[in-house]
Amino acid sequence: MPTKIEKDSVTGTETTGHEWDGIKELNTPLPRWWLYVLYATIIWSLVYYLLYPTIPGIAGLMGYSQREEVVERMAQARARQAGNLDGIAASPLEAIKADPDLLNFALTGGRAAFADNCAPCHAAGGAGRPGYPTLADDSWLWGGTLDEIETTLRHGVRTDDDDTREGEMPAFGADELLEKEQIEAVADYVLSLSTQAAGAAGEGLELYAENCASCHGGAGQGGREYGAPRLADQIWLYGGEKADIVAQITKPRHGVMPAWAGRLDDTTIKMLAVYVHALGGGE
Ligand code: HEC
Ligand code: HEC
Repeated sequence: MPTKIEKDSVTGTETTGHEWDGIKELNTPLPRWWLYVLYATIIWSLVYYLLYPTIPGIAGLMGYSQREEVVERMAQARARQAGNLDGIAASPLEAIKADPDLLNFALTGGRAAFADNCAPCHAAGGAGRPGYPTLADDSWLWGGTLDEIETTLRHGVRTDDDDTREGEMPAFGADELLEKEQIEAVADYVLSLSTQAAGAAGEGLELYAENCASCHGGAGQGGREYGAPRLADQIWLYGGEKADIVAQITKPRHGVMPAWAGRLDDTTIKMLAVYVHALGGGE
């Protein structure tokens, strides 16, 4: 390694001693102004770091903490909402519905809570999907008044909650209560109920009256006591093709709706009940 310091004859600048095929590298000093800017930014960064350190739990010389700021803003937001939240907690559902301010607040809160907790099953806006009932129509399994909706939300359907809504359709096929041909016949009868086709009678009608009417009603009007869907319409929980109906009669699904008491606070459940009721089909 060459160690002696050489000066370039043209510029008078020292070389670094590096040389490639006769071309030597100049050791040109950095411009002063550039160096000063560099030093200034280093000092600035140190000062800034003391003022606003980015270490969790250390507030720095300015005593500033984004974490505390967020906590403070949330407390402010909560204080702003407190009046309405207290109002909702203290009012019966009907009274919330009758008070435009509370109603508005409940609908907004209910919409947000619905998107977080309910839309995964019931789809956005309660549009429903196979196996998960549409909440935006006036066809109800368990009832569509404010109180009935709140009860369903609170205790769920077929859950281990003490007050859960219960009702299990027997597995007519799987438990061999009906023969295959009988299931076909009663499925045809259910289809005729739904399309209100004339002349549906015979074996299907008899089997229906014997096995199904106690829950689904003599005319297929449904039975809310057991959450038995109305069959005399075109709204299906599990599908309205004959194969779907045969499948349900053979081995019913026993759909489960979670109980929300304990998971969501009372105010949120009330806001949800008001929101669901307002989706279009509230009774
Ligand atoms: C894990 C899926 C799931 C989630 C999450 C869920 N549900 Fe349900 N929900 C169901 C099922 C399944 C039923 C139908 C149960 C049955 O067969 O009776 C149902 C039924 C209902 C009913 C009764 C409908 C009727 O016709 O009587 C209401 C009201 C309801 N859900 C509201 C909600 C609300 C509000 C939320 C959010 C807090 C929610 N559900 C979250 C699955 C779910
Ligand atoms: C103990 C009450 C009960 C009896 C008896 C009963 N069901 Fe049901 N049925 C229900 C319930 C509850 C549901 C809701 C679906 C589920 O959770 O499995 C249902 C759902 C259905 C469905 C699906 C409806 C839809 O919207 O997709 C069909 C179809 C049906 N039942 C037909 C019958 C027929 C046919 C019989 C008689 C052979 C019968 N049920 C007997 C309670 C009953």
